[in-house]
Amino acid sequence: MTKAEAGGLPPEQALDPEDWPAFRKLAHAMLDDMIDYQSGVGERKVWRPIPPAVRQSLHEPPPRAPQNLGLVYERFRTLVLPYPTGNIHPRFFGWVHGAGTASGMLAELLAAAMNSNLGGRDHMAVEVERQVVGWWREIFGLPESASGLLTSGSAMANLTALAVARAAKAPVDVRQQGVAAAPERLIAYASSEVHGSVPKAMGVLGLGEAALRRVPVDAALRLDVAALKAAIAADRAAGCRPFCVIATAGTVKSGAIDDLATLGALCQAEDLWFHVDGAFGALAILSPRLKPLLEGIEQASSLAFDFHKWLNVPYGAGCLLVRDGKAHRQAFASTESYLGRASRGAAGGGDWFWDFGIELSRPFRALKVWFAMKEYGLDRFGRLVEQNCAQAHYLADLVAADPHLELLAPVNLNIVCFRYRAGGMTPEALDAVNQEIILDLHEQGIAVPSGVAIAGRQGIRAALVNHRTRRADLKALAEAVVRLGAAALGKPAL
Ligand SMILES: Cc1ncc(COP(=O)(O)O)c(C=O)c1O
Repeated sequence: MTKAEAGGLPPEQALDPEDWPAFRKLAHAMLDDMIDYQSGVGERKVWRPIPPAVRQSLHEPPPRAPQNLGLVYERFRTLVLPYPTGNIHPRFFGWVHGAGTASGMLAELLAAAMNSNLGGRDHMAVEVERQVVGWWREIFGLPESASGLLTSGSAMANLTALAVARAAKAPVDVRQQGVAAAPERLIAYASSEVHGSVPKAMGVLGLGEAALRRVPVDAALRLDVAALKAAIAADRAAGCRPFCVIATAGTVKSGAIDDLATLGALCQAEDLWFHVDGAFGALAILSPRLKPLLEGIEQASSLAFDFHKWLNVPYGAGCLLVRDGKAHRQAFASTESYLGRASRGAAGGGDWFWDFGIELSRPFRALKVWFAMKEYGLDRFGRLVEQNCAQAHYLADLVAADPHLELLAPVNLNIVCFRYRAGGMTPEALDAVNQEIILDLHEQGIAVPSGVAIAGRQGIRAALVNHRTRRADLKALAEAVVRLGAAALGKPAL
């Protein structure tokens, strides 16, 4: 008799419900609540401030003793759920937040039920991610030899892409020896409108944020190609080593799309890595009408884009595609013995995603993308992209028609930068009024746009990737801005 059989050890435990029928009942109730939560979103305020008592309620010691699941859920339902960012609401226009979908919520549930780890090994979840990556490789016209993987978002995709670019273009083995071993300083180029994740990636990769040249933009806020050529020539003359151009397809501030065809050809001629940050703009590929704006994207050495923005899958799901699959693998492949590949069994399955990125443990992000693509079909997403762009023009027309409003940037795609205007005010006072309007819009729960600075002027920015938004929501926004602007003029602090 073993010690355990003799009763010398404590009873074994698991984390499964002790009462499955009761668990099922609670789970169904939670699902019903979440369906109500989603279907009734438009009836609530977009955002509301977290009352101090609610915030304070989470300041409690780490829970050592178990609590009833129903009570834990009740805490979530009353303390967390009522205070969201607001991005599932039709009048959320801030930053570039996707709205998610009801069936995306279900796909997340299914993925969590499987609890797969997609770092590698031989299981169907990995095949689903391979299929999703393959579909998007085809959509963007990259060759079959291209590789890719899903990421938490475009910031991670940009970082991963620049790591591949660095390894592929450095004259030394940077993976082994580090960037300090490179005889010349490696320099990258992007427009002044580049997303903040790119300089951050340069810093993380040891290249240095200062090694990212921020090239001026033209009147349409697109990277100025002549200025880029001059910067590359100047750096070469100074003994630096240009290695990468980062084009943006849909800048975060205004939705401008750099001239991808010209930049792709330039990179080819100059032997530079051509990375495209297409976080949201790249999804315009799904619209036959907008696709020409992305001409040249198929030349990308690497391409970052998101599913959680314009595909509206739940957070977080981005993607990186790399034209040269071998270079991608070389930058990340790992041969640790405890991650050894087998010819059969669960440790088989060919290439592991761990060999193409930074994460070893990886969630089943691909499932929600797979569901969305299959359930709605890509043509539907193309129409939604067009719908948001048409709505952006509608809002721009409302702005143009109102003497109290003005546009701050051309509407390229789906982003409208505008502001309240009033005569007889200093530029600083007008900036303050516009900032006040944004805060009031948020705090009154009317709408959530974000702020923007264009050519030194503070304004209001509406980025439309939300499938729930209707023209009436944009009319409500424009009217509220005029109303709150007039009210702000009367505030003594302004
Ligand atoms: C152009 C651009 N690049 C990168 C990012 C970062 O993407 P994510 O938030 O998915 O990491 C964004 C986010 O809005 C973006 O607009």
